[in-house]
Amino acid sequence: MIVLGIESSCDETAAAVVENGEKVLSSIVSSQTDIHHRYGGVVPELASRKHIESIVPVVNEAIQISGKNLSEINGVAVTQGPGLIGCLLVGFSFAKAWAWSRDIPIVGVDHLEGHINSVFICDNPPQFPFVALLVSGGHTSIYHVTSHMQARLMGRTRDDAAGEAFDKVAKMLNLGYPGGKIIDDLAARGDSGKIKFPRSYLDKDGFDFSFSGMKTAVNRYIQNHPNEYNEQAADIAAGFQDAVTDVLCFKLMKAAQEAGCNHIAIVGGVAANKGLREKIRSQAADKNLTLHIPPIEICGDNAAMIAATGFHYLKAGHRLPLDADVYSRIQKK
Ligand code: KG4
Ligand code: ZN
Repeated sequence: MIVLGIESSCDETAAAVVENGEKVLSSIVSSQTDIHHRYGGVVPELASRKHIESIVPVVNEAIQISGKNLSEINGVAVTQGPGLIGCLLVGFSFAKAWAWSRDIPIVGVDHLEGHINSVFICDNPPQFPFVALLVSGGHTSIYHVTSHMQARLMGRTRDDAAGEAFDKVAKMLNLGYPGGKIIDDLAARGDSGKIKFPRSYLDKDGFDFSFSGMKTAVNRYIQNHPNEYNEQAADIAAGFQDAVTDVLCFKLMKAAQEAGCNHIAIVGGVAANKGLREKIRSQAADKNLTLHIPPIEICGDNAAMIAATGFHYLKAGHRLPLDADVYSRIQKK
């Protein structure tokens, strides 16, 4: 089955063509970073308008690069939520019209399930069951994943998402938006032992996260060192990244142990973080766990993961009703 995937939940307009849920024939991501960076975050109304401009060219390019004819595409998968309502509606309405005008089946895909299934777009996909750490700009959660369509939430952030904390710290240091990659690159040049920031583990036996305290600690440090913080930016970045990744790593290892899984995965935009990858890779090796991470271009928002997930729903006979709507918040299954 050849599935066209469409994603527009936040500030990326993306389309992809994927064969049998794993072979990516094309994946186009049009990012709006240039529009939003001057505001230090995503402006929903501007994002929706940009999706309207980009959706047709992005879909056309994905189909053209895939090398498939329109008649060879036999399913559509589109992000239904969670995300920004105006943004979701652009991709969702387009996908519905596109599928129904061609009389081919369409399914709605949960963005978070898309991220979890992104780990199957790699050379060594995991075996079920596995434990997945989903770290992105909007979400930070741990799941016990038992099938392509079933993931039990073990814990989630109670305040900021990890990526959001990275973005806010980059903003405090006047480094630009989105800040995750900037902090990551800067941290590589700093010393994580020079400035220590607190780790918030909440309940050490639980799997919930809290990042707002770590972010506030960085803010306090900056305010207490107004003349030095610019020169110390690399050490601040390294210290902050070390604190965040320590907590993420600790909870993931503990979750794998509790769920009795030998396979673990990290997915979402922050899974691109070099410090996080190295830390988890080394601890997984010590504990004899097999680690799976999607390729960097599939960590951030993309439509290949939506098509890959949608494939399993289409195969199982799911179909999007004509009156289906998008949703902004996390849905309980
Ligand atoms: O998954 P994603 O593209 O969008 C959401 O679903 O939120 O994740 C975007 C987030 C942003 O907060 C961005 O700063 C962060 O991922 N990010 C990183 C890195 N690359 C992207 N955070 C830390 N290190 C990175 N290398
Ligand atoms: Zn995402």
